[in-house]
Amino acid sequence: MYGSLEEVVVKTTTGYSGVQIALHWLVAILIVIAWFTGEGGKHAMDTVEKGGAAGFVPHVALGLSILALVLVRLLVRFGRGAPAAPGSPGSLSVIAADWGHRLIYLLMIAVPLGGVCTFFLGLDVGDFHELGANVLMIVILGHALMALYHQYVLKDGLLGRIMRAE
Ligand code: HEM
Repeated sequence: MYGSLEEVVVKTTTGYSGVQIALHWLVAILIVIAWFTGEGGKHAMDTVEKGGAAGFVPHVALGLSILALVLVRLLVRFGRGAPAAPGSPGSLSVIAADWGHRLIYLLMIAVPLGGVCTFFLGLDVGDFHELGANVLMIVILGHALMALYHQYVLKDGLLGRIMRAE
């Protein structure tokens, strides 16, 4: 009668669109660069706390871009839909993939928001921002390994879904 939460909230499509694929890889690259430039954010924070002007901070610009692009990505996902995770519906691997993707989305929003709260609002949540960023990187590493496992061990061509638009 009722489908899973995923089926009710998001339409199921046969593949990702060009916009979804472009956003996936653009956000992926920006997240990795933001993680490696985290020290720059810390340095800017120290300057501001000592009463100085931080000026243009690449890490902050990256974080704001990621937040905006992830919101666009979610809007596109809700509007157009996304393909179902591979495997039989309700199987452990499909449930794990769906919740894994939700966790990534949650962290992709919460981590930059934590940065905004720290840098612009002066809230003492810098440690959570850093911890969240590290958890996000670990979850993404697992996500990439699963994608490679599908591609090269299960040989189900999963990587093609996030490379070629449908
Ligand atoms: C910062 C890095 C990354 C982030 C934040 C990220 C995030 C995501 C998210 C949230 C989805 C689900 C899209 C949706 O259904 O709306 C997805 C799908 C996908 N990603 Fe990534 N990803 C990253 C890097 C990678 C890498 C390095 C690979 C390959 C090695 C990869 C391969 C895939 C594949 C194959 C899918 C499609 C899965 C499916 O069709 O069920 N991703 N990614």
